[in-house]
Amino acid sequence: MLYPIVKYPEKVLDKAAAPVKVFDEKLAELANDMFDSMYKAHGVGLAAPQIGVSMHIAVVDLTVGEDPAQRIVLCNPTIIETSGTQSMEEGCLSLPGFHAPCVRPQKAIVKAQDLKGEWFEMTGEDLLARAFCHETDHLNGRLFISHLSVLRRDMIKRQIKRKIKAGEWE
Ligand code: NI
Repeated sequence: MLYPIVKYPEKVLDKAAAPVKVFDEKLAELANDMFDSMYKAHGVGLAAPQIGVSMHIAVVDLTVGEDPAQRIVLCNPTIIETSGTQSMEEGCLSLPGFHAPCVRPQKAIVKAQDLKGEWFEMTGEDLLARAFCHETDHLNGRLFISHLSVLRRDMIKRQIKRKIKAGEWE
């Protein structure tokens, strides 16, 4: 099933998602649907709140579906270690059309559970580190614009307000 992507300023994006407790068929199906919905939107990461499901699960695939081996499911993820910094243009499917340079760790280690509930740790560098941080933020009710300067963030918010008024933010 394909889900529409929830956009800023929907409330579900602002709150911390509930932990995943049951690792069953339904969860696996949700993860599959999240991958499909993310691919359709041409994204490399998607957190459950972005499809209106306030649960601590996110998916990442830097190949956007080109290589099934690169699919990563993160249940109840936390970033346990970071090092270095990188600044690159970042965007978000919930803020379509808006990109801004965002400072992130160059390297991030995420600890999470897989779809069977098994804990694992994975090290991401560059874009993968960025994706781990971006998606984990989502699950804690945080959007990438919260990492920008107040000036830049307010500018983006104002532009979105204008789009909403003009009916260009469906
Ligand atoms: Ni996002």
